[in-house]
Amino acid sequence: MLTIPYGKQQITQADIDAVVAVLTSPNLTQGPKVTEFEQAVAQYCQAAHAIAVNSGTSALHIACLSLGLTNDDRVWTSPFSFVASANCALYCGATIDFVDVELASGNMDMKALATKLEQAKQSNQLPKIVIPVHYAGHPCDLARLHQLSQQYGFSVIEDASHALGASYQGKPIGHGQYSDITIFSFHPVKNITSGEGGMALTQCPKIAKKLRMYSTHGITKTDCINEVPGDWYYEQQLLGFNYRMTDIQAALGCSQLKRLDQFMERRKAIVERYQQWLPDNIGRLIGTTEGKSAHHLFPIQIDANKRKRIFDGMRKAGIIVQLHYINIARQPYYQALGFDPLDFPNTEQLSQTSFSLPLFVDLSEEQQDFVIATLLELLADD
Ligand SMILES: Cc1ncc(COP(=O)(O)O)c(C=O)c1O
Repeated sequence: MLTIPYGKQQITQADIDAVVAVLTSPNLTQGPKVTEFEQAVAQYCQAAHAIAVNSGTSALHIACLSLGLTNDDRVWTSPFSFVASANCALYCGATIDFVDVELASGNMDMKALATKLEQAKQSNQLPKIVIPVHYAGHPCDLARLHQLSQQYGFSVIEDASHALGASYQGKPIGHGQYSDITIFSFHPVKNITSGEGGMALTQCPKIAKKLRMYSTHGITKTDCINEVPGDWYYEQQLLGFNYRMTDIQAALGCSQLKRLDQFMERRKAIVERYQQWLPDNIGRLIGTTEGKSAHHLFPIQIDANKRKRIFDGMRKAGIIVQLHYINIARQPYYQALGFDPLDFPNTEQLSQTSFSLPLFVDLSEEQQDFVIATLLELLADD
């Protein structure tokens, strides 16, 4: 049986040629393509600096380190996300906590954040970093978040794994007008892919220097503390990692980025067709009116007591729907840290009622019609 996944890369001959050209070049890693990809993404997002790494998870980790996160600090993120949004804090020995999301968008609820910040201020437990997630590609309320960051003195890392191609107040996500660092993922289900891959963007040269060093063992060749005795010289100044992206990955990323605007149009058209044919009462998440979505996911909401039957029915028909996401506070690892998933009731509700329908650029109208017809049939079958 042919199956329809919820998300999938588009690979063209141009992508294949770009990768093959690197394979037959002298540099498989750390050649010109990584720099080219970094510059192209930075330009697209109007950011001053971009550091390519081997995953979105690595980008989150070095973003936390570059903002000076230590084991005395706290990070807050959304529990309605992939576990990587929270794990990055734990990698640095910091304490993680969550802020519930809005039911309308699945994004961090700024009112809940404001309340939690005020309480944390009283007990002297303010976070050092807040990591909002642009869920499904819909930008969060970044202006309000920025106000709160100024008032309470925390840094902001945008987890924009879903949001390459989105914009907020007319500026591309990644521009960072309201944050310190923005990270992207280029996993194959994301809006463009480099196989595995990620990137961290910032307007700040000091942060950029740290991001670069943490991505490659904490080593620099250009900003040495000691006098440089010759061209062979390099210095390790921090404890970093080998998180480097390869030229093979970057060549694919560069080739894909050229089609990002096309991808955005296609994703938008698919979403509009779903909205046209599906009933309103299965719920539709919408982002802030100041944002333009990257339409990464199309999650629907169904009564919790019907969700399993309909999810299983879709899968049985070969439509590989997926849940985005299980409440992170419900994961056994996080429960062992003492989290109660019921402390985040909107996340609980969304994660018990949602699943994402197929949304990728090569989804044909026939396939989409089949997805819609199957869903409507299952919904009618009560
Ligand atoms: C919201 C979010 N954050 C972080 C990540 C981690 O990205 P990667 O898979 O590239 O490590 C993902 C990817 O699945 C994600 O969806």
